[in-house]
Amino acid sequence: MRLLRRAAEVLVQQGPRMVIIKAAWTARNHYLALKEKRLAPAVRRRLHNDPPRTIDAVLEFLWSPDADLIRPEQVRGELEALLRLVFGGDAPRTIMEIGTHNGGTLCAFAALAADDATIISLDLPGGAFGGGYMPWKIPLYQSFAKPGQTMHLIRDDSHSPLTLERIRGILAGRQLDFLLIDGDHTYDGVKLDHEMYAPLVRPGGVIAFHDIARDLPQIGNAVGRYWQTVKAATPHQEFRVKDPVLGDVGIGVIRG
Ligand SMILES: C[S@@+](CC[C@H](N)C(=O)[O-])C[C@H]1O[C@@H](n2cnc3c(N)ncnc32)[C@H](O)[C@@H]1O
Repeated sequence: MRLLRRAAEVLVQQGPRMVIIKAAWTARNHYLALKEKRLAPAVRRRLHNDPPRTIDAVLEFLWSPDADLIRPEQVRGELEALLRLVFGGDAPRTIMEIGTHNGGTLCAFAALAADDATIISLDLPGGAFGGGYMPWKIPLYQSFAKPGQTMHLIRDDSHSPLTLERIRGILAGRQLDFLLIDGDHTYDGVKLDHEMYAPLVRPGGVIAFHDIARDLPQIGNAVGRYWQTVKAATPHQEFRVKDPVLGDVGIGVIRG
């Protein structure tokens, strides 16, 4: 009924061509959601029956057919290097990522974080560089948390001062052990995320930037250019790998 009313509005305001375009777009989205929903039980089953708890097990799971729905948007080698740095010693207790999307990095972080960790994952519905995630995925992502962990899925703009305030409220005076910046990949976007959220990281904590090895001007991706300014000013580490399809990719790390 709601769809019919909406179609009638579009017909009156924008004409029959727009009705057809919008109907095709809605049908496509429904089809994709149905296809994705069919993949969710494999993720749940595997996490319930045999939860991965080591870096190797997490990587093996995330690149297995069971994890097709949530595969990280990372090249395996770069993510492995980051996981070994962040989770190779004492497990972090406060983690935040900007850029949830398919939930791949979130799944890895929850599996390897301390049993009582607070994990914040932020994504803007319809945001550039991925488009966020549909609300039906919220329970799936929540299920990544171990029983004693607290997971906050925030669907909002990282650049809004209100979002920053909300995150400060969640942390309630605690500092972040680990921050992954993997949201808005434009020069100004990544710069703002860095400036707004790096002050929340504890001295010595890890601040990681995804996609430092390349710029893709055709889609506005300029993390590589921003990273050049960061690395010129700050002691840093780089995990660079060559992917046969994507070419040079990498993650850059500085400390809080
Ligand atoms: C590359 S994806 C994240 C991938 C994820 N970290 C992984 O590897 O599994 C980037 C996400 O950032 C989100 N994003 C873009 N701009 C944002 C903003 N201003 N605030 C919050 N999220 C944003 C997009 O919606 C997109 O889903």
